Amino acid sequence: MIWRTPRTIRRGTTVSAPPLKPGRALITGASAGIGEAFAHEFARHGYNLTLVARREHKLQALAAELKKTYAIDVSTCACDLLDPSSIERIRKTCSDQEIDILVNNAGVMYHGDFKEQQLESIDSIVHLNVACLTKLSSVFLQPMLRRGGGRILNITSTTGFQAGPTIAVYAASKAYILSFTEALAEELRDSGVYATAFCPGFTDTHMAAESFGEDIKNEPMSAFLMMSTTDVAALGYQACMQGTTISVPGFANKLVSGITRLQPKWMSRRLQAWMYRNMLGGAEKN
Ligand SMILES: NC(=O)c1ccc[n+]([C@@H]2O[C@H](COP(=O)([O-])OP(=O)(O)OC[C@H]3O[C@@H](n4cnc5c(N)ncnc54)[C@H](OP(=O)(O)O)[C@@H]3O)[C@@H](O)[C@H]2O)c1
Repeated sequence: MIWRTPRTIRRGTTVSAPPLKPGRALITGASAGIGEAFAHEFARHGYNLTLVARREHKLQALAAELKKTYAIDVSTCACDLLDPSSIERIRKTCSDQEIDILVNNAGVMYHGDFKEQQLESIDSIVHLNVACLTKLSSVFLQPMLRRGGGRILNITSTTGFQAGPTIAVYAASKAYILSFTEALAEELRDSGVYATAFCPGFTDTHMAAESFGEDIKNEPMSAFLMMSTTDVAALGYQACMQGTTISVPGFANKLVSGITRLQPKWMSRRLQAWMYRNMLGGAEKN
């Protein structure tokens, strides 16, 4: 008899989530990049949306486009998640809404040596990528548990799997999201609520261009890894619906992050430092 490890254990993921009837998804960082693509993806599948970001005009324009194209309900909450009152504002906006899916997507990055990073930048990364994501997970988890179903889709990164010299604080924030979401997924087992840590690699957005320079797409390594926001969002949606605990989109990202995880830690640190300093534009770009 051939003994096979169950699929869920082999992959360390959950792949058997029951289907969720389209309801409402709340997406942070929906005014641009991956968040905007998620808004299109969820709308395409019939979800009503609540969109959060700072730029109100972008949210309004996106809401109008999605309502017209998909005949769904879209509400917006323009707020700066770094503002301590923002979580309460979002809670109030959603007081008469049932949020079935929370997409914690908003995030910021800094590329450059830590010794040159300003306190304001450190604060933004820790507050937005770590604290806000954790607090929003707490706020929206409770009603999901009471209803016995829901999804939390936390956007981390392939950088969360290892230390990231020259993106030290960002990579550490993404490692936090990975660890937090994995633990949450296990705590939620059998509750009907599923948490997914979604780990894109290079994605063609403003963040990538701003952090590594406009030429980033022409670098051979990033060109190999770079994915479109549409493809990333489609795979993120799929992972969320399946209740996958950890999901890395795209063959190239899976390959590179798989190889990185097999390396000794010292080797991975050196290679990451070399890659970020030489292949992906120097730290002096910041
Ligand atoms: N691009 C990549 O290569 C890549 C790779 C792996 C993971 N990721 C992750 O994917 C997520 C989205 O990244 P992206 O590349 O799409 O970034 P992006 O194009 O820069 O978009 C970031 C989004 O976050 C919002 N945001 C930023 N600061 C905010 C704040 N203080 N309050 C509220 N909203 C705020 C922005 O909207 P406003 O400016 O209107 O507020 C925007 O909608 C991030 O978590 C990022 O770490 C990106």
